[in-house]
Amino acid sequence: MRILVVGGSGFLGGEIVRQAAAGGHVVAATYLSNPGPPDLAGWRPLDLRDRTAVTETIRETAPDVVVNAAYRQSDWPTTADGAAHVAAAATGRRLVHVSSDAVFSGAAVTYAEEAIPDPVYPYGAAKAAAETAVRAVDPTAVIARTSLIVGDGGSPHERLVHSLAGGAPGILFTDAVRCPVHVRDLAAALLELADSDRSGIHHVAGADAVSRHELGILIARRDGLDETRLTPGRCADVGFTGPRDVRLDCAQTQRHLKTRLRGAREFVA
Ligand SMILES: NC(=O)c1ccc[n+]([C@@H]2O[C@H](COP(=O)([O-])OP(=O)(O)OC[C@H]3O[C@@H](n4cnc5c(N)ncnc54)[C@H](OP(=O)(O)O)[C@@H]3O)[C@@H](O)[C@H]2O)c1
Repeated sequence: MRILVVGGSGFLGGEIVRQAAAGGHVVAATYLSNPGPPDLAGWRPLDLRDRTAVTETIRETAPDVVVNAAYRQSDWPTTADGAAHVAAAATGRRLVHVSSDAVFSGAAVTYAEEAIPDPVYPYGAAKAAAETAVRAVDPTAVIARTSLIVGDGGSPHERLVHSLAGGAPGILFTDAVRCPVHVRDLAAALLELADSDRSGIHHVAGADAVSRHELGILIARRDGLDETRLTPGRCADVGFTGPRDVRLDCAQTQRHLKTRLRGAREFVA
């Protein structure tokens, strides 16, 4: 397959590029600020906010599959409008769009694919708007909602734990719960979904619901850090009003995947 990874220079995008190249696919990938390894993909600069540039990139790379893993948390034009630009330009090609558990408020705690988004902050609203745009433009697209993405080091969550264990000020919430996923499991699942006849919303997160503090402790133990330096705290302590407990129910999606979506207690151990 010819695969275009939009946001291939990011944490998840980079792993998709690696796995797609290792699988023998012809890979093109985009970046905004820094290209990735030249041996793995043909790299192209792309700003998703530029609709014409998105259209040209997809026309010129002529991919069978487009995976959109690009976003900027605080930038609606990238996260929402940019996703719409990709969906419109990818018409007639297989599209996998990466979304987030941030589309949910946490009021219901556990969410299956059928749940209606009820975002409570701008990033979640932008991801929900992106989903709506993608579904409207291409009902056959896969929209893959995921949760905290962790690896074997290198993710922002792992970097935060290292910095807190090193004495930086801050707390890790005991009442903010997510279903972290390993970046390798997630990338493999997305490539599987790309190569399937699945369409619509899919939940692709890890099997364990853990608090940010428990995740921090797991990472600290794995990396030999002093876990006693990770200060537990509650969202209310710092006036955090975003989603607290959001768990993606992935059972339905897992049934269609060969890739096993491991839980954090297993993959960080
Ligand atoms: N990280 C998580 O824990 C998490 C949790 C739930 C869902 N997600 C979803 O997973 C996906 C990937 O997340 P990630 O953590 O891998 O993100 P990331 O590491 O921050 O990578 C973001 C990518 O988007 C690119 N980008 C940013 N602004 C752009 C723009 N205006 N035009 C084109 N490209 C732009 C970046 O390019 P440069 O790096 O070259 O600037 C980078 O390639 C996103 O859809 C996110 O919503 C992530």
